[in-house]
Amino acid sequence: MSASSCPGWLLDEVASAGRENLDAEHVARYDGKEDAGAVAEVALLQHLGLVAESVVVEIGTGTGQFALAVAPVCARVVTVDVSPVMLELLRAKTTTTAAGNVEVVQAGFLTHEHHGEPADVVYTRYALHHLPDAWKAIALVRMRRMLRTGGLLRLWDVVYDFAADQAAERLEAWCATGGEVVEGEWSRAEYEEHVRDEHSTFTWLLEPMITRADFTIETAEHSEDGIFAKYVLRAV
Ligand SMILES: C[S@@+](CC[C@H](N)C(=O)[O-])C[C@H]1O[C@@H](n2cnc3c(N)ncnc32)[C@H](O)[C@@H]1O
Repeated sequence: MSASSCPGWLLDEVASAGRENLDAEHVARYDGKEDAGAVAEVALLQHLGLVAESVVVEIGTGTGQFALAVAPVCARVVTVDVSPVMLELLRAKTTTTAAGNVEVVQAGFLTHEHHGEPADVVYTRYALHHLPDAWKAIALVRMRRMLRTGGLLRLWDVVYDFAADQAAERLEAWCATGGEVVEGEWSRAEYEEHVRDEHSTFTWLLEPMITRADFTIETAEHSEDGIFAKYVLRAV
């Protein structure tokens, strides 16, 4: 969907992309503070069936740690992000490091149109929480449509695995793990901003959205503090 053809009711995904993801200073220090565990993620996907012929779509790719790691072992990687600042850095990286099969698309969960062979894998890490819940449900359906039946959605995000009446205690405990500076680590102020201004939801709201979008939950890993969730989802 081009910007000019977007209906007036559609969420503005750039406005909801997260203040920091549009900030050149944050983007420049991102790789120094966040290790996306891309090598292990690629190994997991290979174990689950990713092969040299596979088509991978990553949404909310950021600086492209996963996309650049998966590119050498698959046929095509389509990387999608709404932030022009993130994409500028990613484009610079692809010219020097990518295997020549990485396509960079400025779009979002709600606007990206997948073309060509259906995806074998859709990958998204720490990005879906930028959408309010109703839009998450729509994004899940859109990702399902990008995939072939039997394909995989790897979804990793900040998702709260506790009851609503535990929120104050659990969220305060998470924010208290933040540091004081933003270089090389995540600060308390950044965690507070995430909780306050972004749209992380509860596992008990997200999981019914996942199954309703025609995925089966093959694995669900919830961190002990109830803050992070990693899913392997199969398109049925
Ligand atoms: C915290 S970063 C995560 C980057 C990368 N996936 C990682 O794990 O390191 C979140 C990314 O999601 C992008 N994003 C936010 N809202 C989005 C949307 N609606 N559609 C696509 N990308 C979005 C941001 O621009 C940012 O690059």
